[in-house]
Amino acid sequence: MAGIYKKLALGVALCALGGAAASAEGEVEVLHWWTSGGEAAALNVLKDDLQSKSVGWQDMPVAGGGGEQAMTVLRARVTAGNPPTAVQMLGFDILDWAEQGVVADLNSVAAEEGWDEVVPSALQGFSKYDGTWIAAPVNVHSTNWVWANKAIFDELGLDEPSDWDGLIAALDKIKGAGYTAVAHGGQAWQDATIFDAVVMTTGGPDFYKSSMIDLDTEALGSETMQTVFDRMAQIRGYVDDNFSGRDWNLATAMVIEGTAGVQFMGDWAKGEFLNAGKVPGQDFLCFRMPGTQGTVTFNSDQFVMFAVGEESSASQAELAKSIMTPSFQSAFNVVKGSVPARTDVPDADFDDCGKKGMVDLAEANEKGTLFGSMAHGHAAPAAVKNAVYDVVTAHFNGEFDSAAAVDELVAAVEGAL
Ligand code: BGC
Repeated sequence: MAGIYKKLALGVALCALGGAAASAEGEVEVLHWWTSGGEAAALNVLKDDLQSKSVGWQDMPVAGGGGEQAMTVLRARVTAGNPPTAVQMLGFDILDWAEQGVVADLNSVAAEEGWDEVVPSALQGFSKYDGTWIAAPVNVHSTNWVWANKAIFDELGLDEPSDWDGLIAALDKIKGAGYTAVAHGGQAWQDATIFDAVVMTTGGPDFYKSSMIDLDTEALGSETMQTVFDRMAQIRGYVDDNFSGRDWNLATAMVIEGTAGVQFMGDWAKGEFLNAGKVPGQDFLCFRMPGTQGTVTFNSDQFVMFAVGEESSASQAELAKSIMTPSFQSAFNVVKGSVPARTDVPDADFDDCGKKGMVDLAEANEKGTLFGSMAHGHAAPAAVKNAVYDVVTAHFNGEFDSAAAVDELVAAVEGAL
């Protein structure tokens, strides 16, 4: 994990949740941003699971991919002294809330259920604060994926490209045939999601680490970074005129419906294809951003329990326990498009994209090419992430050229630290 995140000793005692809930009656209020069709289908797996354990579900959805709007609502709720029981959260945001001393201690559930042994260490870095479990990870997503319409690829005789030049050649063909080559929604987090993958394909894993994780000024200000911005501008040339502000799932729908060739998006996009009854390998293709094979930029949705009082503690413990059950992790992630947050879940029920996701994650972890996603809060704290968003989006919309974008990036990151 980045050395820039200085862990402070907890000044406030965390409220400890009881162990396995003997009687978990009660309810949980869950703040989340899973509002698209595929996301809602996955969420239902969790709701149903809890209902079968007599834990009621009070839904608190806040639309907005990447969760920025949800985090704004969360801040308002906590400030008003009325936090939700449980909150979907990403990476550094989890550690930030833990630092405030307002989240519940999950150590006793974690010990009973043996989480230490089965949760990959890259995730534990965000699920624990000062050695205390403070979040239950429900999945591992990754951002360096391409989702392609198979009929268009077949019609144009395209293979999955394996490097940048191959990608550009394929996009040219798709555009030339009259399709929108790249389905994209012009929202900062979506621009940044592409940026993750373009940094990785352009500079490789060492460059991704030095620029996005270590926030090294030399890497941020390098010629390689200028090439990254040049490539972002290239991609901008393949999106349609109406891209501005479009939600990510509507961009996915363009690929599903066959009006667009590809979408660069995390594997939550697969949830949309599945929800539309599409089959991987038959209707759509999943492959890594060309040039990033063997690497994974990940983000993990975790559930953080807020310290809301004794009466909720049994249902919170039950929620945490349910999330971490191997059978649930399989059932949920099969629908969500992600892969399990435990190393001991069989891949039997996963489709080919899911199986590939699991293999890629294990390999990247082994080889040291698994890194947190900048776009999704796993590379740097929110202030830095937002600074990167601003520059990437301004450049994508033509506010400045690549050379200026590099300077802006260096200044923005330095200003945010
Ligand atoms: C979350 C996913 C979610 C996506 C789009 C990401 O930050 O990790 O679970 O599907 O945003 O909403």
